[in-house]
Amino acid sequence: MKLSLSILNADLACPLAVIQGLADLVDYVHFDVMDGHFVPNLTFGPLLPNALREKIALPFDIHLMVDRPALYAPRFAVRPGDVITFHVEALDPPDAGIEAVRKLGCRVGLSLRPRTPLSLLAPYLDQIDWVLVMSVEPGFGGQSFLPESLERIAQLRRMIGDRPIQIAVDGGLGPENVAEVLRAGAEVIVAGAAIFRAKNPREAALNLWKAAGLPRT
Ligand code: DX5
Ligand code: ZN
Repeated sequence: MKLSLSILNADLACPLAVIQGLADLVDYVHFDVMDGHFVPNLTFGPLLPNALREKIALPFDIHLMVDRPALYAPRFAVRPGDVITFHVEALDPPDAGIEAVRKLGCRVGLSLRPRTPLSLLAPYLDQIDWVLVMSVEPGFGGQSFLPESLERIAQLRRMIGDRPIQIAVDGGLGPENVAEVLRAGAEVIVAGAAIFRAKNPREAALNLWKAAGLPRT
């Protein structure tokens, strides 16, 4: 398991302190970029991750929930190990998004809403590094995991075959479901509410590792 920390529900008055306080327990920092069109919510654009980029050693996992990923991806200051993910349902054709992200020298991810057929990914599987399976409707943190996501993860695993693509899962993940999500074929667990809505976020992150059968001390 790799754990990606979604800061959407964190106290963003001091984002650097929030991330540094959990940095030894996570593998990525997940940024939910929302434009108010692709999803009915507005968050932040490149300003926040760009301001943090040089101060944090962990790779960034940037999740674009925007209509125009090809237009906005070039505004993100990324490193080679970072991932920029955008949605197949966006207005820009996936080819244009893939090209825009590739030009930045980082990894390319594609995501899809819970009801979007997985077959829409098929034409792009040889061009991407990462698939982000949404296990809630994108837009808000703290929603409940959709159980049908398990079968989608397993099906995607079969579609991917031996291609070097990582499967990340996003939405409603917590100690009660990480083990089955990993068993279905996911490698990267995105977690926000399970960590930031807990009284003790460090303890909550440790619980995720424990639930995955990979206890940390
Ligand atoms: C939802 C976002 C998620 C969310 C994580 O649109 O993409 O990253 O913050 O979900 P929770 O908060 O359920 O872990
Ligand atoms: Zn996300």
